[in-house]
Amino acid sequence: MAVCSLAAVPMLLAAVPAAAQERAASAKRPVQPWMDRTLDPDRRAALLRAAMTLEEKITLLHGQMGRTRLGVAPPAGALGSAGYVPGIPRLGIPALQETDAGVGVTNPDNARPGDGATALPSSLATAATWNRNLAYQNGLVLGDEAWRKGFNVMLAGGVNLLREPRSGRNFEYLGEDPLLAGTLGGDIIRGVQSKGVVSTVKHFAVNDQETDRYSANFQIDKGAARESDLLAFQLAIEGGKPGSVMCAYNRVNGTYTCENDWLLNQVLKKDWAYPGWVMSDWGAVHGVEAALLGLDQQSGEQLDDAVWFGDRLAEKARSDPRYRARVDDMVQRILRSLFSVGAIDRPPVKSAIDYAANATVSRHVAEEGIVLLKNADGLLPLKGVRHIAVIGGMAEFGVLAGGGSSYTAAIEGPGIQIPAMGVTATGGVPRVVIYHPSSPVAALRQALPNATFHLNDGSYPSAAAGVARDADVAIVFVTQWATESRDLVDLSLPNGQEATIAAVAAANPNTVVVLEHAGPITMPWLDKVRGVLAAWYPGGRGGEAIANILTGRVNPSGRLPVTFPADLEQHPRPELKSAGQPAVRPKPGTPFQTINYAEGSDVGYRWFAREGLKPLFPFGHGLSYTSFSHSNLRLHGGRSVSATFDVTNIGSVEGQDVPQLYLTATPEKSVRRLLGFEKVRLAPGESRQVTIKIDPRLLASYSENQNEWLIAGGSYFIAVGSSADGLQPSEKVKVDRLMLHP
Ligand code: BGC
Repeated sequence: MAVCSLAAVPMLLAAVPAAAQERAASAKRPVQPWMDRTLDPDRRAALLRAAMTLEEKITLLHGQMGRTRLGVAPPAGALGSAGYVPGIPRLGIPALQETDAGVGVTNPDNARPGDGATALPSSLATAATWNRNLAYQNGLVLGDEAWRKGFNVMLAGGVNLLREPRSGRNFEYLGEDPLLAGTLGGDIIRGVQSKGVVSTVKHFAVNDQETDRYSANFQIDKGAARESDLLAFQLAIEGGKPGSVMCAYNRVNGTYTCENDWLLNQVLKKDWAYPGWVMSDWGAVHGVEAALLGLDQQSGEQLDDAVWFGDRLAEKARSDPRYRARVDDMVQRILRSLFSVGAIDRPPVKSAIDYAANATVSRHVAEEGIVLLKNADGLLPLKGVRHIAVIGGMAEFGVLAGGGSSYTAAIEGPGIQIPAMGVTATGGVPRVVIYHPSSPVAALRQALPNATFHLNDGSYPSAAAGVARDADVAIVFVTQWATESRDLVDLSLPNGQEATIAAVAAANPNTVVVLEHAGPITMPWLDKVRGVLAAWYPGGRGGEAIANILTGRVNPSGRLPVTFPADLEQHPRPELKSAGQPAVRPKPGTPFQTINYAEGSDVGYRWFAREGLKPLFPFGHGLSYTSFSHSNLRLHGGRSVSATFDVTNIGSVEGQDVPQLYLTATPEKSVRRLLGFEKVRLAPGESRQVTIKIDPRLLASYSENQNEWLIAGGSYFIAVGSSADGLQPSEKVKVDRLMLHP
């Protein structure tokens, strides 16, 4: 019989509860260890990956379209959307239900019959707000609606720089400046992901036009790319931590982006230490080797020549350790993002959406994004007008939306749908010109109940002039429709609208033009009109937003996120070969065109400053119904540079200003670079001090040889102002020489 010493008794007593505690704790611990939320996403992903067979891993690495396309029906369970990757129920891995995109949850081909969503203004309109909080709220709407409709991956986060003013997708991106696009892009992504939905920054990279998009090669100095197109992605990734990155259709420096070792392995995964996954654009994969070159997942596989990341990849993984290691890394990246965003812990639940609240966000974005370009003699806001002529642009019925995969059907349904002749999506389905049913005329009637409205569709200039002649003011609505997969031929207004403006302006000196447009417009008629509003594609509450600006219920505060050139001769490449031709998939081996980005990182206003060109309207320009002054710029230099200045509302109504800080010279040369901005709301007479901490990369140049950012020590000149051209005198600051890791 064992005998216990008295001294051992307390220890035994203590041991009993400890063991019981341990039993209780292990009973609580999840059976699946990766479901332990106290572990970090990398550890959870590693535990889950270790439990997977090769076949299960491969399942996660390729997906079909999420709706019937090219005769292939989606797998059971797909919700009817852009993409679908089956889940692995035995391990609790959810299917990836992927939906487009940046201006709302789309419903392509009406695959989910009648399922509309909040139609947000174009991303370029969001950029024109220069308002980080609104960009974040925009993301919240996207994420919230995606989650409540059952999606866990949102293909939203377009940050390609607006290098080509004719590009059919400019409205899906955030303008020409890397700081503005990258910062707001990060805010949108953060908003989406806070709802437990992965956001996908795209299209990586240098995918700045639609002409020949499936084959064209963009040649760019690598350092210049890091300072421009890639910097926008880098900032968006740092700010938003997107779970995935979508590589693009085009080639960069000779190689398709979805198999571009430099872009995917060196820049993204090594230099930026990006931990998430790279998914392909739909039909952008050309071989299984892409796996070794940095691609993690093949999307929309029926659009490719083969399912490269299915059996073929499995076969490679069985026989080649490099592929085996990659398959593990690819899976790890996908699972890690799903854990880090919350897509596994908080799976989507189909539930009611507060569309009224989201419509308010949509309207706010539209209002703050509308840019008052011209307002001669303070014609706007409309005051005491009795007779208003409204001409053109379908303004009685709605506002224009952009076309392509991002097109979002509003919950109220499409106002007007006109199939576009000669522009088709994959499979021959025509792209459709859509007007959201948000009527500017109805909103104006409501805001100005004592005015009489005289309408004309603008088809015949003489008839439009006849209607305008006796009115107190004539408002001409003009539209420029743009779509994914086809660029604009030029920056003019199509369908004779310029003649209508000219005729109306000749008949009535109080003519205002409202643009509903993709991006920059040329304006041979500008001197003839007194007012111009850039309303972009203003979304499902666009009519109300335009009326609120015209009537002064809302003081305009949008600023151009892109330079408006006087004409295309000012562009680094005045000619865009085949512009206006829809992009078609070439047969393998077809020769491709190379487009040389000789302007390097001098995109948009930087190019205009470098060449001494005078644009029609500069980047950053936008008027208000009040005026602002900027003063007392003080700079602090050394190792980290910051600026402080005062902004004052010197007018008589409340308004919002966007003071902008620019670099005007480095120790080596004159430059123009946006260094910072802030949106400030001020009452009449009110002043606010603004402090901006400058990201050192904006002062630096990128040395590809040394693989580092280099700040030359010496004097830098910085100015504050209201546009890239409207600057106060520069101040000088001494900055230390610095080398920074990419
Ligand atoms: C577009 C992507 C989109 C995808 C899925 C592609 O054609 O380039 O932006 O996310 O289709 O719809």
